[in-house]
Amino acid sequence: MSKKYLITSALPYVNGLPHLGHLVGCLLPADVYARFCREQGRDTLCICGTDEHGTPSEVGAAKENMPVEEYCKKYHDLHAQMYQGFNLSFDYFGRTSSDQNKEITYRIFHALDKNGLIEEKMTKQVYSPADGRYLPDSYVIGTCPYCGYEKAKGDQCENCTKVLDPTDLINPKSALSGSSDIQIKETKHLFLNLPKLEAELNTWIETKKGIWPDIAYSVAKKWLKEGLQERGITRDLKWGFSVPKEGFEGKVFYVWFDAPIGYIGITKQWSDEKPNERNWEDWWLNPENVIHTEFMGKDNIPFHSITFPATLRGTGEKWTEVSFLKGMNWLNFAGGKFSKSAKRGIFLDDALKEFPADYWRYWLMANAPESDDTSFTFETFAATINKDLNDVLGNFINRVTKMTVKDFGLQVPALGEITDTEKELYATLDTLIKQYTDYMENLEIRKALATLREIWVSGNNYIAKTEPWKAVKTDKARAATILNTGLNLVRLFGILSAPIMPEKAKEMVKIFGKEDVFVWPKKSAQELLQELKEGDSFTAPEVLFQKITPERKEELKLKYKEGE
Ligand code: MF3
Ligand code: ZN
Repeated sequence: MSKKYLITSALPYVNGLPHLGHLVGCLLPADVYARFCREQGRDTLCICGTDEHGTPSEVGAAKENMPVEEYCKKYHDLHAQMYQGFNLSFDYFGRTSSDQNKEITYRIFHALDKNGLIEEKMTKQVYSPADGRYLPDSYVIGTCPYCGYEKAKGDQCENCTKVLDPTDLINPKSALSGSSDIQIKETKHLFLNLPKLEAELNTWIETKKGIWPDIAYSVAKKWLKEGLQERGITRDLKWGFSVPKEGFEGKVFYVWFDAPIGYIGITKQWSDEKPNERNWEDWWLNPENVIHTEFMGKDNIPFHSITFPATLRGTGEKWTEVSFLKGMNWLNFAGGKFSKSAKRGIFLDDALKEFPADYWRYWLMANAPESDDTSFTFETFAATINKDLNDVLGNFINRVTKMTVKDFGLQVPALGEITDTEKELYATLDTLIKQYTDYMENLEIRKALATLREIWVSGNNYIAKTEPWKAVKTDKARAATILNTGLNLVRLFGILSAPIMPEKAKEMVKIFGKEDVFVWPKKSAQELLQELKEGDSFTAPEVLFQKITPERKEELKLKYKEGE
């Protein structure tokens, strides 16, 4: 039986507005890989959705004077709409607050409880009478006892990075109301006994050495080295799944308990829509036949490499676990952080107002923060779009189609004698396509994109070398062969670019009136470049890419406060 490819992107918090950093870290590479897998003809399922529980949603809803359910629905729909704008081809974009997720969360919780992995403990929690709620550690602010920074958060001091407890803070206050009436209350919570699963997890993580990206393996390993602690899985909140256990009435599961379970819950949402055709268990209770690839930013790695796998293992059931964990570094905005409140950086709704989705998709993947953090700047953005997409790819398409129209009309000219120059091109492409395919397969995204660019360059080199504008004057049959090859290249470039730039790719292929479903090339370059035949008609394409002028670039820098 051929394997199934399950692909998940970290589920963005519903209350946060997504920016380019979210796109590059998980959403976009998951989509690119899903498109690649589908083009390979694989049974592929790509899942994402909004992560909805927790204090930030309650607080956000209160600010907008809305019931939290309504608030989450509103922002869920906004996320979905923006992702559609970027052509993210999730098979299902669901919600962690769904009934399906509740059902699976309960099932997993009961199994863990039955296996003796759930423990009750008394804990000290911060209560704010002015807010009428318990506050998560990060919602308590005060002066750091180590460095004197006055806006330190109760979980960590941003200034000196020391990990804190809210009770460490001098002059603690509620970040919500500002009230300094902060009480510490004893309350009972449930914990997942991670230490019991530590040895097993360690053995498993060892098998990922040299297979997962360094950052994923090393973060997981670091946690294991420091020794796992029991982890609280309940909270004193209203918004969330209520804890189905006596003595825990009025409490809910911690957002990080039900969020990753959300991958499963969302798959069940998908499967419940067409229960005769789809079965979520084929994906999640079928570890031998499923390859599961997860995409996320580096802060999410511990949850996906330690706590979530432990949660699944602890049930004693055979859940599908992560096969490959693609962790990504940060994308910053001109060296700093994205901030909606300061209007710094590029949020997804704005991005689409400025440029077509494929410009962003190309730049983000070409500059994916794989081995290190990277920065977005309009300087590099404009340079990449102008060079790679305009000078290299766009120019190639324009020249080849224009010359053909001029000298042969709107039909593919005849392929005559194949010379050493064509043979050289075939050989180059055979190597590059193989490389590109391997990089995509192994999710070495930057290298894949650099290779794609080299593939486009090989087209330009071919035209520069064969000079069809000269050939047409002396040897029309030779010019026909060159332009036949050129047109075939345009189509091939479209197919190869499709996972990265689906819309532009469609336009490139559409001019030949052929497929709109892409199939990954498996034949030799020589065969691939003979798929369009003499006499096949085509339409002259629109100009696919537009250069970004220096003036426009400067405008954008100001508008988005680059460098401020
Ligand atoms: N909402 C989290 C974040 O944006 C990611 C959750 S991923 C999940 O950092 F798998 F746990 F849902
Ligand atoms: Zn400090």
